[in-house]
Amino acid sequence: MTVSEPRTPHAVSAVTDAGEGTDEERALFESVIADDKRIEPRDWMPSAYRRTLVRQMSQHAHSEIIGMQPEANWITRAPSLKRKAILMAKVQDEAGHGLYLYSATETLGTGRDVLNDQLIQGKARYSSIFNYPAPTWADMGAIGWLVDGAAIVNQVPLCRASFGPYARAMVRICKEESFHQRQGFEILLELMQGTLAQQEMAQDAVNRWFAPSLMMFGPPDAESTNSAQSMAWNIKRFSNDELRQRFVDMLVPQAEVLGITFPDPELAWNEERGHYDFGELDWDEFAEVLAGRGPCNAQRLQRRRDAHNDGAWVREAAAAYARKTAARAVEGAAA
Ligand SMILES: [Fe+2]
Ligand SMILES: [Fe+2]
Repeated sequence: MTVSEPRTPHAVSAVTDAGEGTDEERALFESVIADDKRIEPRDWMPSAYRRTLVRQMSQHAHSEIIGMQPEANWITRAPSLKRKAILMAKVQDEAGHGLYLYSATETLGTGRDVLNDQLIQGKARYSSIFNYPAPTWADMGAIGWLVDGAAIVNQVPLCRASFGPYARAMVRICKEESFHQRQGFEILLELMQGTLAQQEMAQDAVNRWFAPSLMMFGPPDAESTNSAQSMAWNIKRFSNDELRQRFVDMLVPQAEVLGITFPDPELAWNEERGHYDFGELDWDEFAEVLAGRGPCNAQRLQRRRDAHNDGAWVREAAAAYARKTAARAVEGAAA
């Protein structure tokens, strides 16, 4: 299996359904995809392409927003002012990522209020990884290194996604994600150079986050339902298993620098494949967390609902201010 080359594009027939749009619209869309160019919001696009993007981009936006919680919880307890400032900046970046992505999704005609309702009513998905608890400071290191690390591997190919606003949002997001990964690595490095208790805390956090971070790439290719179509549309460039392999290959040398191990007895270099082999993941656990029965699903959603309700006065004040400003502009024009 090669992870360095994109797969050959699928036949054009997989790109659009007949019976939708005019022949000319379909042909134009297909040629943009075939030439690996960008579709922009005002261009004609098949409704399934639009739906797929709304689903993927809004899930991504929700993940950024829910993903603030495990770390925001540690801002007040960060061990130094420097760590506090860095963590605060990181959590703020995630809020920004959520907002770019909601804005990019809005260009497809689905409003942020609709997306937000789907999230707080528990109808929308977000990355399962954020349903795991973060009980120690070392979790901040493991989340940055492994979770943001997996996010980068997933998202770098999305910088070339066929939908322009998504691809452009990803370019900036990826730059910030690489800072996030480095700060996580650095937290772990410092702990690994500390006392035995600190080293154990770092190892324990990595033990807990390793498998869930590998599951962030989604189910194995054989069970991944949306992948082939997303590849035909140049939204997805590599399969789940290809990206997972790339991530493991990237992590192992970094773990050696840290002096940390992974809780996988099957992890070993495979000379023949030129990649690291790794053990089967517990997909039953993944399904449980995805179905809302993970350790923190209910807590994360409730926190988001509370934050939404607590922010009602801000939205009302902003709307009242906008009305007042608009009314003044009308008065000014009439005077
Ligand atoms: Fe992010
Ligand atoms: Fe991040």
